[in-house]
Amino acid sequence: MSADTATIIPLTAVEPAMIEELLDRAFGADRHARTAYRIRAGMEWLDALSFAAIDADEMLVGTIQCSPIALIDNDARPVPMIMVGPVAVVPERQGEGFGMGLMAAMLDAEARMAANGSPSFPQVLIGDEDYYGRWGFNANATSGWRCPGPYEQHRLLARGAALSAMPRDGSLGPWNPEGGIVGKD
Ligand SMILES: CC(C)(COP(=O)(O)OP(=O)(O)OC[C@H]1O[C@@H](n2cnc3c(N)ncnc32)[C@H](O)[C@@H]1OP(=O)(O)O)[C@@H](O)C(=O)NCCC(=O)NCCS
Repeated sequence: MSADTATIIPLTAVEPAMIEELLDRAFGADRHARTAYRIRAGMEWLDALSFAAIDADEMLVGTIQCSPIALIDNDARPVPMIMVGPVAVVPERQGEGFGMGLMAAMLDAEARMAANGSPSFPQVLIGDEDYYGRWGFNANATSGWRCPGPYEQHRLLARGAALSAMPRDGSLGPWNPEGGIVGKD
């Protein structure tokens, strides 16, 4: 069996407890302390950009979630971005193409929304450029960006047409388009 037989469905169709269990298996139960979790702390994932992979036996094998965040520039102005992740495939099914299928579904959805007139925000993640580079993610724009916790700067990757207009320096953190910068006055 392979990802050729995978079905990609909206993540909203999956029981929340099953998503949590899958994430615990892919990242470990201590995953909430990770820097990526701190960047998007308190943010709901975006329904339109979050998906699950189901195999031919209708088993949940992977998920991708995206959340609204912002790069807060040195003048405390938030510049909206999309945080990609977690991207997770259950350990025994990794390397079968499910991760690529989930990434493609998310990027297709993002492109369709942009084509239909929705604002297109740059995407950011913490991950390996060897993997995410195939979708245009790289660390070229991120050397002056900071994260709330430990991370390797070369693994802070971004992509998107609007990247060239992003501030060179700033801090990544949760951002609610309606409520402003989360955790700040
Ligand atoms: C990273 C992850 C999502 C990739 O999904 P996957 O279904 O295992 O990967 P795919 O089958 O889609 O892709 C396989 C290809 O990517 C490569 N690849 C996978 N992970 C990689 C990594 N971290 N760095 C470089 N290449 C990687 C494989 O070598 C393989 O290459 P090939 O096609 O040339 O043989 C998955 O392995 C996973 O859940 N890992 C644990 C959680 C994690 O680290 N998530 C990413 C951070 S959010």
